[in-house]
Amino acid sequence: MKKVSKAIFPVAGLGTRFLPATKSVPKEIMTLVDRPLIQYAIDEARAAGIKEFIFVTSRGKSALEDYFDQAPELEHQLRKKGKDDLLEILKSTNMESGQIAYIRQHKALGLGHAVWCARRLVGNEPFAVILPDDVIAAETPCLQQMVEAHAETGGCMVAAMEVAPEKASSYGVLDVKEDMGSVVSTRGMVEKPAPEDAPSNLAVIGRYILTPQIMRNLNKIKTGAGGEIQLTDAIATEVQEGREVYGYRFRGQRFDCGSKAGFLQATVAFGLARPDLRDELSAYLDELVSVRNAAQ
Ligand code: G1P
Repeated sequence: MKKVSKAIFPVAGLGTRFLPATKSVPKEIMTLVDRPLIQYAIDEARAAGIKEFIFVTSRGKSALEDYFDQAPELEHQLRKKGKDDLLEILKSTNMESGQIAYIRQHKALGLGHAVWCARRLVGNEPFAVILPDDVIAAETPCLQQMVEAHAETGGCMVAAMEVAPEKASSYGVLDVKEDMGSVVSTRGMVEKPAPEDAPSNLAVIGRYILTPQIMRNLNKIKTGAGGEIQLTDAIATEVQEGREVYGYRFRGQRFDCGSKAGFLQATVAFGLARPDLRDELSAYLDELVSVRNAAQ
């Protein structure tokens, strides 16, 4: 089986939930503490052995392209001032020439369509998809866990997590065939099912390892849930045609940074995980809680 060395990052969304900020700043550039959302996704991909990074973008995302470019003037200034620590941080965001590619999704036709836009760059090999809105804090980065599990199973694999049953209709949901613990085999998956139709409460989270067959399935997929071309439907086709699709229950905590509440929670959690911020932030949180308790 060929190693997974390419990852697609769908970043074409308008980010309307974060207006007015996203009027001029791509959502993926918004920062958790001091790193843009997209940097977390890139670091996770690198840890999993990804060598080629494919961004599916849209109009108004040029700040994202600039972010991964070199910043020679800034580097020069930092070097002159002897700020080596900042220089190192800056350099760690540089991407090698030819490692990164940008493809435009000209129309917002859905996640499946965004992934399909990268078909020529992916070619005939397995590939990963990372949705940068789903930020996962984990000792072993989530995609790396999946690459290791996938080396045993092959087929397609999606990250999965149990959600409250009433929340299942916000996700792709797995129909579980056999539960083997961290890996489950499936007999199907449904995108955003009506609550009464959800086959389980095991939801798809934004990490995928997919076979090139998915691109061929996407060639034929019709619009699905929400009138969009759904990646979930292209993966479900695999099961219908007798090929394996696995869910992988990752070890780690997932934050839904596509929502304001999730973004705030991630900000607090990543802040508390930082040695330079932990004490001040937790003292502040303690103070907030005691003021709230006193008021009740
Ligand atoms: C997308 C996928 C969905 C998945 C979710 C995870 O939905 O279509 O299957 O469960 O990401 O975050 P979106 O959140 O973009 O509507």
